[in-house]
Amino acid sequence: MTTLTVDLGERSYPIYIGDALLGQADLLKQHIPGNSALIVSNETVAPLYLEKTRSMLSGLRNEAVILPDGEKYKNLEVLNQIYDGLLRNRFDRNTTVIALGGGVVGDMAGFAAASYQRGVHLVQIPTTLLSQVDSSVGGKTGVNHALGKNMIGAFYQPKAVIADTDTLDTLPDRELSAGIAEVIKYGLICNADFFNWLEQNMQRLLERDKQALSHAIEVSCQTKADVVAADERESGKRALLNLGHTFGHAIENGMGYGEWLHGEAVGAGMCMAAIMSNHMGWMNDSEKHRTIELIAQAKLPTRAPASMSPEKFLDLMSVDKKVLDGVLRLVLMKGIGKSVVTDDYTLDNLTTAIELSTSA
Ligand SMILES: NC(=O)c1ccc[n+]([C@@H]2O[C@H](COP(=O)([O-])OP(=O)(O)OC[C@H]3O[C@@H](n4cnc5c(N)ncnc54)[C@H](O)[C@@H]3O)[C@@H](O)[C@H]2O)c1
Ligand SMILES: [Zn+2]
Repeated sequence: MTTLTVDLGERSYPIYIGDALLGQADLLKQHIPGNSALIVSNETVAPLYLEKTRSMLSGLRNEAVILPDGEKYKNLEVLNQIYDGLLRNRFDRNTTVIALGGGVVGDMAGFAAASYQRGVHLVQIPTTLLSQVDSSVGGKTGVNHALGKNMIGAFYQPKAVIADTDTLDTLPDRELSAGIAEVIKYGLICNADFFNWLEQNMQRLLERDKQALSHAIEVSCQTKADVVAADERESGKRALLNLGHTFGHAIENGMGYGEWLHGEAVGAGMCMAAIMSNHMGWMNDSEKHRTIELIAQAKLPTRAPASMSPEKFLDLMSVDKKVLDGVLRLVLMKGIGKSVVTDDYTLDNLTTAIELSTSA
């Protein structure tokens, strides 16, 4: 097992990464200050891992709330089921909410913990690769509103994150690849050595080799933890984590939410960022090809959907929440491992890049 620390002063917390962590009672119990806990999971994950999680809570009063599975249930109405569970059991301010599941469960349980009685303790047990390398770290929590994704939420840090690589054995292939997109992102943002390692080890990740997965999760979490420690509330550096995301969100939205997985859209979005960076002379041909090749190796899409015109992209991108003062800032690359947040490009650069990305 490896332990990383997210360094946020007195709110610092550990991330445990390794196999066979579920079932190790002490690991969880030391982060539960009171004598009660509410596990929040969903209909898919609970049959797989709820009993094991409960077995770590012996001696504590513990209950579970099982939510329906899916992004479409990440809303205020379903969130109420968590408050109902907390209130029905008369759980007090010293209780702990345990999020057991992917990013949807983590975001919802996290927001419930942030808001129930003005804040109770939170432990994240992420069970998808995406949630292990991304959503469980950094403290963003929330739900969707009919008028916008993740529009209701709070920054709220957990007491601990327990990332058990064994849970990834049951993850569908497509979800695994979607998580790998975020892993590749960390290499492209600031770690060329890690990018090289991924080029050598992609097959091991796809085969769910535990050592390779642990290493990839460690480097990813460390990178995110460093960025978050430097800029918890996304005023500057944290925006680098949006590499591929402005393009990706346009694809997710333009194709209709649910068609493309988030990670798939981010994969294609990172290819678009590479193509635009190359077109502007910031990234050389070889690095652009290596980027696209690695994303293809991860079984992710590398092209923007042909059905999306540049006009549609621009339209969808200008409503992106990363629009600051009317200027659309993008994350582009000055090479592998050298991403920058910039508005130093022309509309023509952007339009051409979109055209290049969609043409076969
Ligand atoms: N808070 C953040 O910083 C942050 C960052 C990135 C993404 N997110 C959010 O995370 C969500 C996406 O997370 P996700 O990709 O984990 O999706 P998800 O939570 O929907 O999980 C994907 C699917 O895998 C299933 N699943 C989960 N663990 C499993 C396991 N071990 N075995 C088998 N099936 C399993 C889930 O039930 C679901 O059907 C989005 O709502 C997104 O907004 C938040
Ligand atoms: Zn993402």
